[in-house]
Amino acid sequence: MADTASGDAFVAFERVQKSYDGETLVVKDLNLSMPKGEFLTMLGPSGSGKTTCLMMLAGFETATHGEIKLEGKPINNIPPHKRGIGMVFQNYALFPHMTVAENLSFPLEVRKIGKSDREAKIKRALDMVQMGDFGGRRPAQLSGGQQQRIALARALVFEPELVLMDEPLGALDKQLRESLQFEITNLAHELGITVVYVTHDQTEALTMSDRVAVFDDGRIQQLAAPDVLYESPENSFVAQFIGENNTLGGRIKQKSGETCVVELDSGEVIDAKPVNVKEVGERTLISIRPERVEIDPEALGPDAHTLKAEVKEFIYMGDTFRTRLSVAGKDDFIVKTRNRAGQARLQPGQTVHIGWLPQDCRALDA
Ligand SMILES: Nc1ncnc2c1ncn2[C@@H]1O[C@H](COP(=O)(O)OP(=O)(O)OP(=O)(O)O)[C@@H](O)[C@H]1O
Ligand SMILES: [Mg+2]
Repeated sequence: MADTASGDAFVAFERVQKSYDGETLVVKDLNLSMPKGEFLTMLGPSGSGKTTCLMMLAGFETATHGEIKLEGKPINNIPPHKRGIGMVFQNYALFPHMTVAENLSFPLEVRKIGKSDREAKIKRALDMVQMGDFGGRRPAQLSGGQQQRIALARALVFEPELVLMDEPLGALDKQLRESLQFEITNLAHELGITVVYVTHDQTEALTMSDRVAVFDDGRIQQLAAPDVLYESPENSFVAQFIGENNTLGGRIKQKSGETCVVELDSGEVIDAKPVNVKEVGERTLISIRPERVEIDPEALGPDAHTLKAEVKEFIYMGDTFRTRLSVAGKDDFIVKTRNRAGQARLQPGQTVHIGWLPQDCRALDA
């Protein structure tokens, strides 16, 4: 989805393309505009162009076509030290000859911040990444994850207006990751910092961001708030990439406004919401989230079509049950149910009827 209202944007990519070799485009027609203070995450498979976009915004790579603007001004006219950008990159490099505290002091000295102010800011930044006792060490005396945390602290210590982070928590264990996710979003919101964040981790993207841009093949496939992305994916790639998703292939049989009828490959007929399909006869992949499927479809009322399903596997997960079913000729259909009092625990081999509300079943591109 293109976002073109870039008039008063803080950061704007306008029709940006990038080729490294003059032949293949690794970024294709990127349009993106961010208001000041937004936390935006780029999420997508390896090689989809995320780092390239950050590098262009930082000014280390130039766009082959199009323009990148910061506060309305083309970025190539702003010298790097005046951009006020904090960065944490995949290959973060601390200054090896300086101690941790000196590494953090450097961006503050460049900005002529006084000694006592510097000390307070350094302490706060080191405490944030839980490295308060390491100020005197050199980078070579730290583990990979510790170096990564110092790089993060150094990017934030001068309270830049814009911070670019490329997988800044990649090398950390789950607990530290979760605590830093919280610290980073808090600090960014508190100081009104605009953040462009890159991650492979969809939970991280959904929990930290105001908006998420899902990348694939050098394009933004969808740009939306986390809940919209999860609940209303606009195409099959996004539906599959974000969260768990059931798909069934079929063909559009009827279509009118908000509903369509799909004949599945197995011959069964269901109702769906037409999202990314145009006409009768077209192939479609229908998409439905595991928690929107009812195993007792009588709860759904007379409108819902129901399907016969065979239980393949029942997995007890504590708070939820995951049941794998064979539906319409496919063996990988997942249903998630809450562990309520009296909730049925199904047995493999059992036959059940499942159903859902047509609006929860999205007909997408095949
Ligand atoms: N300096 C370069 N020279 C030539 N090709 C490059 C260069 N940097 C990246 N590429 C290519 O551009 C494409 C996009 O790479 P990029 O690093 O932006 O992907 P990414 O989305 O950040 O992936 P990852 O999640 O693996 O970090 C890839 O096909 C990559 O091989
Ligand atoms: Mg990358």
